[in-house]
Amino acid sequence: MCGIMGYTGVEPAVPIIYSGLKKLEYRGYDSSGIGIVESGKVELFKTEGGPDNLKSRLPFKSSSAVGLGHTRWATHGAANEINAHPHTSPQKLFMIVHNGIIENCSELKLRYHLDSELKSETDTEVIACLLEREYSGDVKEAITRVMPQLTGSYALGIICIDFPDTLFCAKKSSPLFVCTDERGAYLASDIAAFPGDTGKIYRLGDGEIGIIKKDSFKVFDIDGCRIRKTEIRLRDTEEYEDKGGYEHYMLKEIYEQPSAVEKTLDSIMSDGKIKLGCLRMNRERIKSLTRIELIGCGSAYHAGLAGAYALQKLLKIPARAYIASEYKSMGSVADENTLAIIISQSGETADTLAAMKEVKSRNAKIVSVVNNRYSTIAQESDSVIITRAGREISVATTKAFSAQLAVLYCIAVRLAYSAGRIDRERYRALCAELLSLPEKSRQTLEKNEAIEKIAQILKDAEYTCFIGRAADYCTAMEGALKLKEVSYSHCEAYAAGELKHGTISLIENGTPVIAVCADSSALSKTVSNIKECKSRGAKIICITDSDYDGDADDIVIKIPDTEDLFSVSAAVIPLQLIAYHTAKKKGCGIDKPKNLAKSVTVE
Ligand code: AGP
Repeated sequence: MCGIMGYTGVEPAVPIIYSGLKKLEYRGYDSSGIGIVESGKVELFKTEGGPDNLKSRLPFKSSSAVGLGHTRWATHGAANEINAHPHTSPQKLFMIVHNGIIENCSELKLRYHLDSELKSETDTEVIACLLEREYSGDVKEAITRVMPQLTGSYALGIICIDFPDTLFCAKKSSPLFVCTDERGAYLASDIAAFPGDTGKIYRLGDGEIGIIKKDSFKVFDIDGCRIRKTEIRLRDTEEYEDKGGYEHYMLKEIYEQPSAVEKTLDSIMSDGKIKLGCLRMNRERIKSLTRIELIGCGSAYHAGLAGAYALQKLLKIPARAYIASEYKSMGSVADENTLAIIISQSGETADTLAAMKEVKSRNAKIVSVVNNRYSTIAQESDSVIITRAGREISVATTKAFSAQLAVLYCIAVRLAYSAGRIDRERYRALCAELLSLPEKSRQTLEKNEAIEKIAQILKDAEYTCFIGRAADYCTAMEGALKLKEVSYSHCEAYAAGELKHGTISLIENGTPVIAVCADSSALSKTVSNIKECKSRGAKIICITDSDYDGDADDIVIKIPDTEDLFSVSAAVIPLQLIAYHTAKKKGCGIDKPKNLAKSVTVE
C-alpha cells in the first residue's frame, strides 16, 4: 500500500532515496517525503503527490548520508503534506516511515492522551510518539516495547537522532527487505528499490528488528536474541524498466502479454506436456480432491473465475472462485481434500494473505500463483508457481493477469489428465491449444486500430454494460474492472442471462453494451441477449471468435478461434485496449489511476 526506503552509507542519501521512491511509487503516490539527518537534526521534505512532485523540494546537494523516504497510499488522514511521511516524535528524537496500518491507533491515542502531541491524522505518528515514550537510551529496547502494543501491520524505517548514522527497522505482515553493498546499506518495501544488482539482500521476518549501519546489519527477535539472516539468492532482479517507446506502461504491458504467456508456459511445459511436479501431488492425492477453491482480489479474482470454470468443466469436481476479503466471512468449508489456489500478482495483498491463513488453518493444500517469487504469499505456500510476466508497473494489471490464466489452465488440464478425467488425446489437444495462446494474443493485438475507435463511443458514455456467459462472463468481469480502473467510467459486468432479471432497465438508447462471445458453448444464448439489448436501443460492441457478424450498425471485433475453456486469454485483450484508449481520450493518468495502488497491503 505504501513504499518505504532508507539508506545509510558513504554517499549523499537524497538521490539514492529519491531513486528508490521512484521504483516504489506503484505502491502509492498520493503523498511522499524524504527525511535526512543534517548537522545532528532531522530535516523533512514532504509534499502532496508522488515522488515527481517531491523532487523540486529535495536538497540533492546535501552531503547527509543517512535518511528515510516514503511514497504513500492514504489509510489514515487525507492525502496531503501534513500526513506525508516521514513523521517525527514530539521532541524530534525519532523519525519514522511506515507501510501498513495500525488498527488500534485510536485506542493508543486515548490510552496515552496523545491528541495534543499529534500534528497529523496518521497512525504512523502514533508509533513515533510511543517510541519516544518508551526510549531510555536503547532504541532496540524501545522498539521491542512498542511492537507488542501495535495491532495491525507494519514495516517501519526508524532513525533516532542519538544514533544519526544508524537505521532501525521492524516488521509485521508488511514486506521489508535490507540490502548491503559497497556504498552502504538500505531498507525498502520491495527489492526493486535497491540500486544496482551487486548487493546482498535479506528479507525481514515478522517480529524481527534490524539495526543497519553502513558496514553492518544485525537482526534480533522480539526477545532481543540475535538472528542470523540468510541472503536471498536473486535469480531475476528485474531492472527498472522504461516504457520501451510506449506512451504508458499499461500499453507496453498489454503488448508484452504474448511474451509473458509464452515464458510462463515455457516454465511449466516441455515437449508439449505440462510439468507441474511443484504441486507435489501424485495421482492418488489428485483423485482424493473433493473441491478446489481459487482465492484472490480484483483481477486475480477474475483469473480465479476463469480458472474455476476450466477446472470444474475438466475435473468434474466443485471449483469455486472466492473474493479474498469475503472468504473468511463465508465460513470456510475447506479441508484436507481441498486444493486452495491463491492468486496474486504482488504476493503481498493483505486480503489475500488473510484468506490464505484461513484456508491454511483448514489443512487444505495451498498452491500460490504469484508474479513475485520473494513475496509473502510465495513464502507461506506449500507450492508456488511463478508467473513469468516480469515486473508489472502499471497499476492496472494486464500481462500478469494473462500469465495467471495460463498457469490456471495448465493446472486444470494437468489435474484432469492425472485424475483420468480426460484421455491422452484430449490432453495432447488441450496442451496444443495452450501453446497456441501467445500467437492468438499477438493476432488479437493487431486489431488495436479498430478497437481504438470504440473508445470514441465510450469516452462520453454515462454507463456501459459488459455481458457474457460461461467463460465470457469472466472476460466481461475483467473488462469492466479495467474500464472502471483506468478511465473512471461507470460500467458493470453481468452474466448475460441476468440482464432480464433487472439490469436491462438500465439500457437506454445508445447505451454501449459490450458482449463477449468467445465461448461457443454460450454463443446462441448470448446473441439472444444482444438482441434484447438492441431492441431497447443499445449500441452493440461484440468481441467474438465465431462467425457471428451482428447487424450492420453493430461493431464486431473478430479474434482468433480459441478453445472455449481458454477463451478469456484472447478475448480479454480487446477489452484491455478499450479501457486504455478510453482512458487516454478522457485524459486520465492511466499508469497510476487516482485512489489506487499496485499492491494493497491493508485489509
Ligand atoms: C487490477 O488491475 C487491480 N490493480 C487490482 O484489482 C488487483 O488485481 C488486486 O488488487 C489484486 O492484486 P494482486 O494480484 O497483487 O493480489
